[in-house]
Amino acid sequence: MKGLILSGGSGTRLRPITHTSAKQLVPVANKPVLFYAIEAMSAAGISDIGIVVGDTYEEIKAAVKDGGDWGANVTYIRQEAPLGLAHAVKISKHYLGNDNFVVFLGDNLIKDGITSLVEDFKNNGPNAQILLAKVKDPRMFGVAELNGGKVVRLVEKPTHPASDLALVGVYMFDASVWEAIDNIKPSARGELEITDALQYLIDKKYNVQPHIIDGWWKDTGKLEDMLEANRIILEDMKSCCEGRVDEKSRLIGRVIIESGAEIENSTIRGPVIIGAGSRIKNSFIGPFTSIYLNVLVENSEIEHSIILEKSVIKDISRLEDSLVGKNVEVYKSSVKPKAYRLMLGDNSCVGLK
Ligand code: G1P
Repeated sequence: MKGLILSGGSGTRLRPITHTSAKQLVPVANKPVLFYAIEAMSAAGISDIGIVVGDTYEEIKAAVKDGGDWGANVTYIRQEAPLGLAHAVKISKHYLGNDNFVVFLGDNLIKDGITSLVEDFKNNGPNAQILLAKVKDPRMFGVAELNGGKVVRLVEKPTHPASDLALVGVYMFDASVWEAIDNIKPSARGELEITDALQYLIDKKYNVQPHIIDGWWKDTGKLEDMLEANRIILEDMKSCCEGRVDEKSRLIGRVIIESGAEIENSTIRGPVIIGAGSRIKNSFIGPFTSIYLNVLVENSEIEHSIILEKSVIKDISRLEDSLVGKNVEVYKSSVKPKAYRLMLGDNSCVGLK
């Protein structure tokens, strides 16, 4: 069985972070989201993995390389434009051949992995297997209508959802999917939808097996979802300290200090992860915060946030619910007149008190 991870999308809902970086490489608990998908596949015994990439190809390739770190064999497949999930699968046909395969959306996180789901697919042998999860607002997802445990209809982002069961971004197919993809047309948003390919299979009486998952799942495409994913993953991590913590600092609860990080005269109240090479000085880092690599936090308080590499946060009395990109500086200025002085990228979002 092969794996296909889709990482071609443009990440519009995470701008401006995605103006310069792939959304799949934003770290959750200091690990790029995409790495969780590779780990899940590898744990399920899938080592031949194709990654569909778009404009951020170089960046993704630099991070994942040949997949050797996961014992996997990664092949990159270029998608020239984001023309839909089924389009991404279609252009991967030369790689997948007639093998059964798992499609994993590179921005989806499934806490319990996919090992038992892959086993079910292998044992039951349906033509396709979909995962469904109950969500509060199904309008943002593909939505399934079931009848007696069978899928009767799948609708992409319906205005009036028939149920609260959203399509999770992990799908399993046999070779019948090729007939489906060849027979669907682009949707109103101009994309070849995987949801439509599945509906084709249902209409043609192929066996599409639904699987309702009760474990935690998230599509990390938006800031709130990213922060929630960060919360859930951090809560499960084990404390460890590979950095240096001075005697004036206090670590409370679940705290991970990566190698070379330095904590001086600060309080860290977990769950928190402080990345390699970062420095926390005279500061408070509160629950559910991930500080990535080589960040400097000085005379500041941060809680429930993700700070990316090489950023500097200085003299800020309180920062919460934030995602700060790479190489960003946030500091208190003493220049008169007293004012906010900003240089923000397009589509930035700033909440001032
Ligand atoms: C895609 C699918 C949708 C699915 C979702 C899961 O939506 O089209 O059916 O529910 O992923 O993350 P997208 O996030 O590409 O809009």
